[in-house]
Amino acid sequence: MSELLVRERGAVPPDAGSVFERIAEDLATRGFSVIDGAVPTALAISLAIEVRERSATAFHWASIGREQTQMVNGFVRRDAICWIEGESEAERDWLAWIVQLKTALNRRLYLGLFSFECHFAHYPPGAFYKRHVDAFRGEANRVLTTVLYLNPAWGPDDGGELVLHLDADNEETVRLRPTLGTLVVFLSEAFPHEVLPAQRDRYSIAGWFRVNASCAARADPPR
Ligand code: OGA
Ligand code: MN
Repeated sequence: MSELLVRERGAVPPDAGSVFERIAEDLATRGFSVIDGAVPTALAISLAIEVRERSATAFHWASIGREQTQMVNGFVRRDAICWIEGESEAERDWLAWIVQLKTALNRRLYLGLFSFECHFAHYPPGAFYKRHVDAFRGEANRVLTTVLYLNPAWGPDDGGELVLHLDADNEETVRLRPTLGTLVVFLSEAFPHEVLPAQRDRYSIAGWFRVNASCAARADPPR
């Protein structure tokens, strides 16, 4: 892996302000944004190394649903995950980058983004995540989904694409390769999406911005 990663170092680091501008503009016009090389390359590499180390020990099979209704369902998804709490420098740098994105988007789009939760994900060969939405209107308070990909040199035959369904009758889709440093951001309620079976180990960080849905009668802290 290190050989492949070294090659990625040549990329020109994007200016964070212009990345945030692009994401805000894309969200305002079409509800989703795809940015290659979104975070500094050194950070993407550190996270790519960390996810591979941690997946050997700290991951558990992902479940569906929340709290009491949560269950592992291998027909729906077969990824293993580990929540990110800021334990390493790379995790803290990622979360700091996310806070900057949050501030920029709230300033530009008045989304009222409040908290953020994210986990590393590992899809072993053959793993997938069937078509789903990350939030249901009026019920959940996840408003914005982010996925950062951590796979150097992902080829056209490696599978594992993210498919975003842009309209209800399934016709128009966007397909994304989970390449190192690519970030996708989309409105959580707006786009059903799926992960096609990966042909090799596929690593990413999936995250969600939430609005604060607390009210006097019902406290709603993040996770
Ligand atoms: C998810 C998800 C997409 C991806 O974790 O909810 O849809 O490309 N992930 O990993
Ligand atoms: Mn999802």
